[in-house]
Order: sequence, then structure tokens, then C-alpha cells
Amino acid sequence: MPKIRIEGGHKLTGTIPISGAKNSVVALIPTAILCDETVTISNVPEITDVDDLENILVHLNAEITRTNGKVEINSSNIINKEITETLSKKLRASYYFMGALLGKFNRVEMYFPGGCTIGARPINLHLKGFELLGAKITEEGNHFVIEAEKLKGNNIYLDFPSVGATINIMLAAVKAKGKTVIDNAAAEPEIANVATFLNNMGAKIKGAGTSTITITGVKYLHSCFHEVIPDRIEAGTYLIMGALIGENLRIENMIPNHLEALIAKLTEAGVEMEIGLDNILIKGTNNYKPIDIKTLVYPGFATDLQQVMSVFLTQCQGRSSIEETIYENRFQSLLELEKMGANVKIRPDNHKATIRGKTPLHGADVNSTDLRGGASLLVAGLIADGITNIDNISYILRGYDHIIEKLTNVGAKIEII
Ligand code: UD1
Repeated sequence: MPKIRIEGGHKLTGTIPISGAKNSVVALIPTAILCDETVTISNVPEITDVDDLENILVHLNAEITRTNGKVEINSSNIINKEITETLSKKLRASYYFMGALLGKFNRVEMYFPGGCTIGARPINLHLKGFELLGAKITEEGNHFVIEAEKLKGNNIYLDFPSVGATINIMLAAVKAKGKTVIDNAAAEPEIANVATFLNNMGAKIKGAGTSTITITGVKYLHSCFHEVIPDRIEAGTYLIMGALIGENLRIENMIPNHLEALIAKLTEAGVEMEIGLDNILIKGTNNYKPIDIKTLVYPGFATDLQQVMSVFLTQCQGRSSIEETIYENRFQSLLELEKMGANVKIRPDNHKATIRGKTPLHGADVNSTDLRGGASLLVAGLIADGITNIDNISYILRGYDHIIEKLTNVGAKIEII
């Protein structure tokens, strides 16, 4: 099995360009099948989650062409057949085919989605939304048939502002008859990006990016061109690397506004940044103060940056804390960080942890537990003394476009072996 090998301690200098957002593109590709003509999506990152979605499109007989970060999708000959368990389980975002196929054909048959094992991750809110739009759900084990004679707009209140449920309900409602209002909707930038894509096709969606989204159903969705927004989690990962081992490291083609919580926390710890319109420069590293992190829905501190941030906390002088409020099982990577010398204590409820710093980290053989956990070990390897070998790297490659090349270009000694 391939591993990532890192020789730690090399300063990072230069520019890292940010790619299109994983959590946006993995929704945009299934969304494309709602279109009655050909759509073009640009700024598509090269990550394996996109390959897995392409395989689902091919399975459904859609036409897809991928060249130089551009994807063209034509779904006019799509066959609405069951998405197999193997394809459904490849990634979390396969669940967007539920909303998209239901919205297009009033029927979808597929299995429970895959994704990182960071918690139970039920889809009850997605299903509740579909039911309120008029769908009937038959669930047998992992297998779902969701069908409706006719979808009709409704008022839907989400018990939790789930990203997946918000997007999936938008997809099912976009061609439904009448008006749908989603209250307590998630407000992540990726949701607004999907709504803009649909509106570019002729949909009528208002309020995406706020907690109330209104969708007025339309009959036809036409061809359009759409760009994936920059990946705020990728940008945040490189910013944290910059704070730890950067020297005039610029992160560019990003949207600083999407990272306000991270920027506030890094600033509180003492990280000095020059924030531009679409880039951030980190001049050097410093003596950092300890800080407390609490993950929240957007615009709060992103749970997807919590694990990478834990590496930063090992280098702050004193006791820092992390409170994870979104997932029940997102501290597994801390146990791997311990092997590298981190001083970590996880509370028995698995929602709070403390990290005492500053502790030097040393190279070790470690295991990626999930996508962002793997990224945290990679960051740890970059600042550690000696050699770090990371196993199970397929997790990391699911979400970080050209990560080896981007880091090598700024001076890291990192390779896949
Ligand atoms: C998306 C992101 C993921 C990110 C997460 C939170 C994608 C493909 N993935 O995941 O990277 O970590 O948002 O920002 O975009 N929940 C329920 N019932 C539901 C749905 C969710 O209880 O029907 C719970 C989940 O178990 C979790 C919380 O709500 O505790 C957040 O989940 P959600 O926002 O839906 O995350 P995902 O869409 O899975």
C-alpha cells in the first residue's frame, strides 16, 4: 500500500494556490443531472471523490467529459437505475443522488452513503425532507427506495442545520410544484454555490447562505457554465501549516471571508497574517498562546478544521482545549498525534480534549484515520523531527488536490512511496 513519507523541519516558502472546494463539487456533480441540457463546471479539483462520482454518472449512462479542471455533463440519456451498494458506499456525497434523481424522475433507488467514520452520520433529516415533499420511503437495511407520484412544495424545518439535508432538499424541491421553504437551513458557502448553479440553470432559489431558503419549483433547467468556489478547508489546512512552519508563505485564490473563525482563532494565538482580497500571507512563525476551540456550524469554527488545528495547539505554550460539537468520533487522530509526542487528554465523553504545549513532535509511523485526520498527521509530519510515514493515504487523496506537488513547490520534503 502506498504511504506518504515526510522529512520534517523544512520551512515552507512561496505560494500555494487553492483548488475548487471538495464539498461544493461533490454536490455540483450530482446536481448537474437535474439539468435538461449540457452543463459545464470549471475549477474542478482532481480528487478521488470526483472520480467516484464520475463512476456513478457513467453507471447511470450520463455523458461526462473531464479536461483540465473542467467537467461537462449531459444527462439527457440518463437511465434511472439502482445505484449499487459498492458505488453508493464509496463516498458520503453519493447521497446527493437521492435528491437529484428524486427531483428529476420522482424515484431513486440506492444504498446508504459511505464517507469517513467520524460519527453515526444518519440521514433522517434528508428523508424527513423528502417525505414532506410527498415522497414515500422504503428502507430495508442499507437499501432505500424513495419515490413520489408527484413532488409538491412544503415548509420544512430542520432539527439541525445539516449541510447534506439542506442541499438534498433543495435538489428534490427545485422541480417540485409550488413553493418550498427550508427553515433552520445550513448556511455553508457550498450551499450558496449549489443554489447559484441551479439558479444559473433557471431555478428559483432565494436565501441560500442564510437559515431560510425558499425554492419555487420550475419545469425546465437549461444549460449553463458554473465555477466551483475555492476550498475553504484546504485553504485553512495550508494556513495552519503556514502558521507552524511558513516563512513568507502565501495562500492564494481563496476567500478569506469564508475562514473568519479560523483567522480569528489564529490571530488570538498570535499568528501574524496579511489578509488580501483573495490571499493571505503568513510571514513567519512565533511563540503562540494557548486557545480554546469549539466546533460549530458555519460561520462557526469548522469541524473539518478541528483535527488539523489540534496540531497547531501542540505548538502553543500552555493548555489549549477543543470541544467537538458536530461529530461523536472525531478525536481518533489525536491518538496518532500522541505517538509523535503530543500531550493530549481526551475526556471520556469523546467531545472534549485538552492539549498541552509546546511539545516537540518527532517522526513516527502513523495511520490516517479519516480525511482530515490524515491531513493533521501530514501537518504534524512537516513540523516533526525526522521521518514520518503515513499509512492509509487514500483518505487524504479523497480531498486534497495535488497535495504532494503543492507542498513540494514551497519546500516540503514529501513523497508518496
Ligand atoms: C458535510 C460535509 C463534511 C462536514 C459536515 C459538517 C460534505 C460532503 N460533507 O457533511 O465535510 O464535516 O458537512 O460541516 O459536504 N445529522 C443528523 N441527521 C441527518 C443529517 C445530519 O443527525 O439527517 C447530523 C450528523 O450526524 C452530524 C451533523 O448533523 O452530527 C452534521 O451533519 P451534516 O451537516 O449533515 O454533515 P454532512 O452533510 O454529512
